[in-house]
Amino acid sequence: MSTLEIKDLHVDVATGDDGAKEILRGVDLTVRSGETHAIMGPNGSGKSTLAYAIAGHPKYEVTSGQVLLDGEDVLAMSVDERARAGLFLAMQYPVEVPGVSMSNFLRSAATAIRGESPKLRTWVKEVKQAYADLEIDPAFAERSVNEGFSGGEKKRHEVLQLSLLQPKIAVLDETDSGLDVDALRVVSEGVNRYRESGEVGVLLITHYSRILRHIHPDVVHVFAGGRIAASGGAELADELEADGYVRYTGTPSAAR
Ligand SMILES: Nc1ncnc2c1ncn2[C@@H]1O[C@H](COP(=O)(O)OP(=O)(O)OP(=O)(O)O)[C@@H](O)[C@H]1O
Ligand SMILES: [Mg+2]
Repeated sequence: MSTLEIKDLHVDVATGDDGAKEILRGVDLTVRSGETHAIMGPNGSGKSTLAYAIAGHPKYEVTSGQVLLDGEDVLAMSVDERARAGLFLAMQYPVEVPGVSMSNFLRSAATAIRGESPKLRTWVKEVKQAYADLEIDPAFAERSVNEGFSGGEKKRHEVLQLSLLQPKIAVLDETDSGLDVDALRVVSEGVNRYRESGEVGVLLITHYSRILRHIHPDVVHVFAGGRIAASGGAELADELEADGYVRYTGTPSAAR
């Protein structure tokens, strides 16, 4: 059993020239293993900021509040320690790492997270299976991480990492964005396999209720103005799709 607790989290983003702007304004959220939470909200409301703050991106400064994983202070951990503790972030815009092959990257990541390098023979099998499950051509393994990958190829590779690293809590930031129908199915199946693989929790940030037909959420949260404005069941996603965020933001386009 694992629990990620976010308590009254306030986060500033560094705006350059030593400036800072408050983006998160008191986020309260608890994700337990076995649960899938969906977060939906207008552009610019702070969803990715929340994901980055959990992962420890240096551009985001936590000014108050807490993030706890099984009672441990996540905010006191380095980015590496957070990953080793069992947190995983699939980024909205996965970064390209020229010069590092995907296969080396995956093995290094697995070694760091498991605490020992995986035995070569079982590792090769594992990786092969993961590529097959996500319907990715194994030739990608020899390419540099994400370099020149299409949007959808990057998203598949985020889920490939998820399946190999088996974190306790996964934050998936718009992993469904820009996917064709087949990719959406493959990626959703990948996430569902991960969910069924053990006692894990998922925080799924999305703009589209269509992914929630594949990955059923236990709770849907509306994110607006840097905090959770409302929470409900799966039906809330349909309501948002039909009515937009006006109820939560005051104006149709105002996100903040
Ligand atoms: N360097 C910066 N200077 C000023 N504002 C910034 C800076 N970096 C981020 N922001 C602002 O922080 C806000 C929150 O951004 P964030 O990426 O968290 O939104 P989001 O909810 O993920 O949006 P989307 O749905 O479009 O992905 C945005 O208004 C963004 O412009
Ligand atoms: Mg975002």
